[in-house]
Amino acid sequence: MKLRRAARIILVGPPGVGKGTQAARLITHYPQISSLSSGDLLRSNVQRRTPLGLKAESTMSAGNLVPDSMILSLILDELSSRGWLSPTPSSAAASSTPLPAPTHNQPFITQPLTSSFSPFSTPPSRSTPSDDPSASFLLDGFPRTATQAALLTPHLPINLCISIRTPAHIILSRICNRLVHAPSGRVYNTTFNPPVVPGKDDVTGEELTRRKDDDPAVWEERLRRFEDTREGLVGFYREKGVLWEVEGESSDEITPRILGEMERQFCQG
Ligand code: AP5
Ligand code: MG
Repeated sequence: MKLRRAARIILVGPPGVGKGTQAARLITHYPQISSLSSGDLLRSNVQRRTPLGLKAESTMSAGNLVPDSMILSLILDELSSRGWLSPTPSSAAASSTPLPAPTHNQPFITQPLTSSFSPFSTPPSRSTPSDDPSASFLLDGFPRTATQAALLTPHLPINLCISIRTPAHIILSRICNRLVHAPSGRVYNTTFNPPVVPGKDDVTGEELTRRKDDDPAVWEERLRRFEDTREGLVGFYREKGVLWEVEGESSDEITPRILGEMERQFCQG
């Protein structure tokens, strides 16, 4: 399916609702769209022991949100490195370098991260997003608060916010069965979408792992954080007229609805 204009999408939903799963399906269906997960980006920094990763690690493993300024800086640097934005002050002023060497390649990160952590003492500059379909992207996990949304908007006005809802008791059972391929962010589930070879990534054959925060108690904390910020975030995009909500118990039920909405919004006319 071909996009007729740039899709600038964010996926919003509680931890484990299937944002990563839907993102993978969307980019398979629309190869023009690139996806970026704030959680994967943070976990990559933790794994490579960058200064930012060291700062974020304990916050993440407790199920809390990292500071808005840290995540905004990280995402804008990444978008700039992909050529979707002109360089930001934070990337220009990258002050720190990774500590010990990386242990894996990070295929979805096209250039090394600058690992800068520069809380904005001055407002970041504005950039103009391209409307070419090839500049389409999907953000999974960012923005997560109304503050983050307001900070992102001058750089990149999102034109579709997809809010996914699934009952909490269903999600909890999935989390306990999740396995991930950390270098790529590919997600599996021992019951729902198991790897072909148990415990191994389908593409690289490398070992799959469990995320540190996939513990029921930590998940509940993450859910609480999400519920605290959800209304502010979706309210922000509702006001902008770009909110679209979808509810379902399974990703298989939700995917065709998302694809239908994508077609309506970005492929017609
Ligand atoms: P992040 O990585 O974004 O985690 P999350 O939002 O908690 O979401 P998850 O990745 O856990 O779930 P998902 O919705 O992607 O579900 P998935 O597709 O894997 O963030 C982690 C941490 O980073 C945060 O806690 C925070 O500390 C920090 N952070 C990140 N962004 C931040 C920000 N903007 N600001 C501040 N801090 C930030 O699916 C889950 C499982 O279910 C999988 O096993 C999957 O296979 C399975 N599954 C999917 N669909 C189905 C189905 N239909 N039936 C059965 N199983 C299914
Ligand atoms: Mg995810």
